[in-house]
Amino acid sequence: MPNIAFLNGRFMPLAQAKVSVEDRGFQFGDGIYELIRTYDGRIFHMEDHLRRLEQSARELGLPMVYSKTRWKEILAKASSRGGFPDAKIYIQITRGVAPRDHSFPKKARPTVLVTVRKMLPLSSELLEKGGAVITVPDIRWGRCDVKSINLLPNILARQKARSSGAFEALFVRDGLVLEGAGSNVFAMIQGRLVTPPKGPAILAGITRDLVSELARKSGDSVVETGITPVDLLAAEEVFLTGTTTEILPIVKVDARTIGDGRPGKTTRRLIHLFRQATRP
Ligand SMILES: Cc1ncc(COP(=O)(O)O)c(C=O)c1O
Repeated sequence: MPNIAFLNGRFMPLAQAKVSVEDRGFQFGDGIYELIRTYDGRIFHMEDHLRRLEQSARELGLPMVYSKTRWKEILAKASSRGGFPDAKIYIQITRGVAPRDHSFPKKARPTVLVTVRKMLPLSSELLEKGGAVITVPDIRWGRCDVKSINLLPNILARQKARSSGAFEALFVRDGLVLEGAGSNVFAMIQGRLVTPPKGPAILAGITRDLVSELARKSGDSVVETGITPVDLLAAEEVFLTGTTTEILPIVKVDARTIGDGRPGKTTRRLIHLFRQATRP
């Protein structure tokens, strides 16, 4: 089955989906995106992702183009046409095609793209043994709560991580660890599960919210507060969350071992609960 795309109202094979070189997404990174998982053909937390897409659109003065009902139809159709039980659905809206000028074009129609690809899970070895992260200075803009397609600092940070054999890079700004290049972070510190608070400095991860809820329901105390690099290194457990990352145990931060160097028991319990939530 070919990978499929939905572009400006039409489904087509991904290879045929083409956008003008004057698209503002291409020229300015003037657009937003979402990434959604399907598990066994079910679209996971679709409402939450559509709500966040709408928030990002509102913040950048972009129209949502379709009603929520229409979006749901498009995503359901995309998922079934894609034909992968476990898929990642990528949505992108840009401000459309217009002669290059920084200010908003008067007449451009937004470009709407949805693609569906097979989800390749993280290696079981990484999940069992845990991964490594590095910390990097946060050079991103001041609205990291908006899921903008401008990802250059994230790309550079992730590449730096991969070049040093780590899975992810964690951004540090004003003495606080904020989030990963494409994930949120949790740390078990003195028996409490800590994650940085929502605000303009991080993306309000949908997995982050779900994991917080699962943790609270299973008796953990979850606290949203700042984490310093020193706190992180002294943490009993560290893990990342994200739509494609799910919950990834972290056993090394900047080459220093976390806890006993193995995924911690709270992390393992939350992975178990998360799996139950994805495949009820
Ligand atoms: C910067 C950043 N933080 C956090 C996340 C995790 O968010 P979610 O759980 O909604 O995928 C992502 C996911 O793409 C991200 O790009």
